[in-house]
Amino acid sequence: MIALENLTVRFGGLVALDAVSARFGEPVSGIVGPNGAGKTTTMNVISGFLTSQGGRVRVGDTDLLDLPPYRRTRWGLRRSFQREEIAGDLTVEENLRAMLDNLPLSRADKREELARALDFTGLGAERHRLGATLNSYERRLTDVARCVIGRPKMILFDEPAGGLTGEETEHLGALILAIPGQTGAQVLVIDHDVDLISRICSQTLVLDFGRRIAFGPTAAVFDDPAVKAAYLGLEAEDAGA
Ligand SMILES: Nc1ncnc2c1ncn2[C@@H]1O[C@H](COP(=O)(O)OP(=O)(O)O)[C@@H](O)[C@H]1O
Ligand SMILES: [Mg+2]
Repeated sequence: MIALENLTVRFGGLVALDAVSARFGEPVSGIVGPNGAGKTTTMNVISGFLTSQGGRVRVGDTDLLDLPPYRRTRWGLRRSFQREEIAGDLTVEENLRAMLDNLPLSRADKREELARALDFTGLGAERHRLGATLNSYERRLTDVARCVIGRPKMILFDEPAGGLTGEETEHLGALILAIPGQTGAQVLVIDHDVDLISRICSQTLVLDFGRRIAFGPTAAVFDDPAVKAAYLGLEAEDAGA
């Protein structure tokens, strides 16, 4: 269970998150909303890049907001970025080892975690390639491998399918769905792609202008008139209306 309680973030006069609460109980859940809705801000609060003006993020007995960011990583929090941060001058394996460096695991455990992450993402054959030589999908997979390594408890993906083809998105969705069974971690996927979220998330929070406009089983949420209105507004903008 991941419980967001009353998360509030202001940037000057702009309220990026307005007392947002939601309790995620499913292995894979989603946070969606149009551009600027507050999705990345939510992720930044959970991971510690931003401080919430009040509120809590409870996972089991832990309030993540009480821990400094590096302790959140040691606790088991992982995140991906909208632009994945893979070092171009390090190999795939070295990128993964850099993640393991900060974790309190024995050498043998680290070796095993590395092998499992490479195997899970299908990157075994690419382990000695430099980050700079990877295509966008391989970079994305390396990012997923960094998230599943070292016994995570909670993984946040920020627009993981950005820039991928339909087929790659489908593979990535299947991979993300397999993460809880593989690692025991609970996963939150942030996206504006309703198709991806509908396929892999059982439960979804919808944000619009920093406010929770719907929360619940994904199908019901996308059937909600308020959600349709938020997305229809978006389509109208896209059409130049
Ligand atoms: N560091 C910042 N300083 C000022 N405003 C910000 C900052 N980060 C985000 N915002 C604003 O907060 C709102 C929510 O942004 P964000 O969480 O990135 O949206 P999303 O990820 O849903 O597209 C937007 O209006 C954005 O412009
Ligand atoms: Mg964002």
